[in-house]
Amino acid sequence: MEIIIQPTQQAATDVAARLIARLLIAKPHAVIGLATGSTPLSLYQSLISMNLDWSQATTFNLDEYIGLPREHPQSYHSFMWENLFKHINIRKENIHLPDGNATDIPQFCEDYENHILAAGGIDLQVLGIGTDGHIGFNEPTSSLASRTRIKTLTKQTCIDNARFFGSEEAVPKHVITMGIGTIMEARQNLLLAFGSHKARAIAEAVEGPITSIHPASILQMHPAVKVCLDDAAAGQLQRADYFRWVYENKPQWQMI
Ligand code: PGA
Repeated sequence: MEIIIQPTQQAATDVAARLIARLLIAKPHAVIGLATGSTPLSLYQSLISMNLDWSQATTFNLDEYIGLPREHPQSYHSFMWENLFKHINIRKENIHLPDGNATDIPQFCEDYENHILAAGGIDLQVLGIGTDGHIGFNEPTSSLASRTRIKTLTKQTCIDNARFFGSEEAVPKHVITMGIGTIMEARQNLLLAFGSHKARAIAEAVEGPITSIHPASILQMHPAVKVCLDDAAAGQLQRADYFRWVYENKPQWQMI
């Protein structure tokens, strides 16, 4: 894991945006995994302002609520169109989001996995982290080998996401999410976290034991993970000074 700590959210976002820009320029037909929630908003704004060419790119989103109409303002479908897709030149047919209204959800999930494979696999997956350590919507105790499937949200995630829905009760309890096994097959993972409310989850993911109780900790087993943090999200890392020192002393050719 490469832990990149920057003084502000914007500075950490800029590193992540440069990494994605570099991929899109080197590989215009890249397959990029996308995330939703508050965390990637500044990343999407930066990417939009970079005027990148997405015309050959393909995207797969991590997750979606089940049963929420696609047009609902809090569906991840709406979120992605509003905050990224309508501002870039990506082709509609290259966009993939889980369908939370599929009539046969297990079949849909199997097809989603097959579409990722048919696209050549995910080159870079953007991830946020839940305060309970989830990645995608893989809640604590998710199988570390899981594939795209239905999950039930934890009470903590419903509380965390109540701000989008007005109340905890209004948060859908079921979701489709890429599995941890799916995420681990991405060639590169890019985890973002900002704010002191994420500090504990980040410390457990980076410095804690690998355990399904804290799903993000599995990323320690992935060969190419970058974690972009602001100072606040890095606040509980024991080795924060070491991570800063490493980043400041990278050879020039390794700079992002
Ligand atoms: P957030 O959610 O970006 O809204 O904090 C992150 C997540 O649940 O993965």
